[in-house]
Amino acid sequence: MPVPEKIQREVDSLRQQIEHHNRLYHTLDAPEIPDADYDALLIRLEQLEQEYGLQTPDSPTQRVGGAPLTTFKQVTHAQPMLSLGKAFTAKELEDFEARIKKRLESDTEIGYSCEPKVDGVAVSLLYRNGILERAATRGDGETGEDITHNVRTIRSIPLKLIGDRVPDLIEVRGEIFLGKRGFATVNSRAASEGTKQFVNPRNTAAGAVRQLNARLTAQLPLEMYCYSVGVIEGGKIASRLSEVFEELKSWGLPVNPERALCKGIQACLAYCESLLAKRDALDFEIDGAVIKVDDLLLQKQLGSNARTPRWALAYKFPAEEKSTEVLDVEFQVGRTGTITPVARLQPVFVGGVTISNTTLHNMDEIARLGLRIGDTVIVRRAGDVIPKIVKVIRAVTETSKTRRKSIKVPATCPACGSPVERDGEVLYRCSAGIICPAQRKESIKHFASRSALDIEGLGDKLVDQLVDNGLISNVADIFNLNAEQLAGLDRMGAKSATKLVAAINKSKQTTLPRFLYALGIREVGEATALALATHFGEIEKLLLASTEALEAVPDIGPVVAQHIQTFFSNKSNLALIRQLQQAGLSWPILEVTATTKPLADSTFVLTGTLETMDRNAAKQQLIAFGAKVAGSVSKKTSCVVAGPGAGSKLDKAIELGIKVIDEAEFTALLESLSEAAGK
Ligand code: IVH
Repeated sequence: MPVPEKIQREVDSLRQQIEHHNRLYHTLDAPEIPDADYDALLIRLEQLEQEYGLQTPDSPTQRVGGAPLTTFKQVTHAQPMLSLGKAFTAKELEDFEARIKKRLESDTEIGYSCEPKVDGVAVSLLYRNGILERAATRGDGETGEDITHNVRTIRSIPLKLIGDRVPDLIEVRGEIFLGKRGFATVNSRAASEGTKQFVNPRNTAAGAVRQLNARLTAQLPLEMYCYSVGVIEGGKIASRLSEVFEELKSWGLPVNPERALCKGIQACLAYCESLLAKRDALDFEIDGAVIKVDDLLLQKQLGSNARTPRWALAYKFPAEEKSTEVLDVEFQVGRTGTITPVARLQPVFVGGVTISNTTLHNMDEIARLGLRIGDTVIVRRAGDVIPKIVKVIRAVTETSKTRRKSIKVPATCPACGSPVERDGEVLYRCSAGIICPAQRKESIKHFASRSALDIEGLGDKLVDQLVDNGLISNVADIFNLNAEQLAGLDRMGAKSATKLVAAINKSKQTTLPRFLYALGIREVGEATALALATHFGEIEKLLLASTEALEAVPDIGPVVAQHIQTFFSNKSNLALIRQLQQAGLSWPILEVTATTKPLADSTFVLTGTLETMDRNAAKQQLIAFGAKVAGSVSKKTSCVVAGPGAGSKLDKAIELGIKVIDEAEFTALLESLSEAAGK
């Protein structure tokens, strides 16, 4: 039966509309229609294709994946897919330019295309007459595998190129990856479905492109950025890579928005530094920058060595994942007696620092990892995030009896020998309470810390010494210390002892939120302390508050209310508070008025890195002043706090004319609000 012309026209139009919205959504990050409208277009197209037998390989309906394959076909690359030489220092980058200039026998300035080195999987896409014909992995560089069935499911890769002047045959190369947000979504889906967690975005993407069953690949929000062009027939492309990127973009292919054209190697170095500063804020993982001679004719002139081109170089950033060995697992006792397993590692340089310990959080985490002492593991440290063991890569063998040790919670507290009790499903606690020296030390360290009483000079090592030497046993004792006692301690001179006594005295003039936080009540962090202080205004009212009264405080639920009540109904805690007041600790009484919510009705967005404060603490403080904190910038945003590495959110704020402040201005704002509220 011939297909009615009207139907064919509708099918063509639907395909065009769907690809247009795909491009807006995935390549330009500027969707125009809601997801539900997009789905409706796709459903209608599916229905028509089925009814009239109109399925074609380039139809957007084919992105869900077809029947599984049994094997991969081999693909021989017409031009080998090379790898890149590496540089780790500025000097190595300068040497790279010197080699180029020498070979070209010229000293004229060279333009470079600088791009993020995306940590994903290399792919070659072949478009014939604008239609995606074949996609292949890099393989050994000469021969790869045909992964067309999987690549068709990736929505940011056009099945059909748009625009004119597309060569008859063009091979485009690039990196397929899973974005950080996409990875988080996939893992939270896995958690809610009770299936296995993925280790990192790169491995997930690599596994996905090598799936025989494309329906599984289709479930992951994979993306791609193009970085070069291979074979071309029946057409011409621009003569500079930076211009080729513009052409690829105009044909609907995704190119990296962080690319830049740099003149001379020093400009490339500056690019690398700014990219490194932005690393955390990017939605895709990178392991460096790629510096390429922009002029394609010069590239040709320079040619390649056996495996690497002379016109390009990878400038590598510190790896965020490394393997190392777990030497031991020890148990640490926290401020509230919680016993936490900590892995002692063979020191390893990862994410720019040397890591020799990492918390394992709880016994569940150990079980999830299947970890034993002696195992080789992958340690990850991205940005300022605390390092984490993500996977056991080589378990110690059953036969190496001497080293293989399973990890057990000790029956007695490693600090005081009191029995260890179970608290809930996965937590364990020392039963001794404040008589346990570890708990005592931790609570004193917390009391003196920056966000609490902020006693400058009273660091962790000094607290250990003071407790071990019997000079203090609780936080009130700090205020009885004198310079002579202190001067006798390790690494303490008369001068630093006097300074410390002065700092201790200074800390007596504090604020109620700081004092409440310093007490170390379970689950009362800075934000809750601030909320309690602004709600009750003075400590006496708080001491008398019922659980109902406590639950009336914004963001305090029954569990936290119970912890607060338990703390204040304990006689020794009350005695400690009185002792501290007698020692001279004081704070202004807060007026519980509307001025304590000066940011009500405003919405803040935090973007980029905050260097002097914890992002979560910043967020909590804003909330305590009544502000809303949003994840994205819109017309409703009142102010954007932009730190180094701020990207698209900052661009959007500028575009919408929204107030942007840096971290220094932000800190000043918080301080002036605190002062105004008398906190
Ligand atoms: S250019 C001859 N550009 O890094 C030039 N590669 O060893 C070949 N990669 O496997 C690559 N981002 O998959 C280039 N912007 C980028 C890249 C990039 C990631 C990967 C690529 C290759 C490896 C280089």
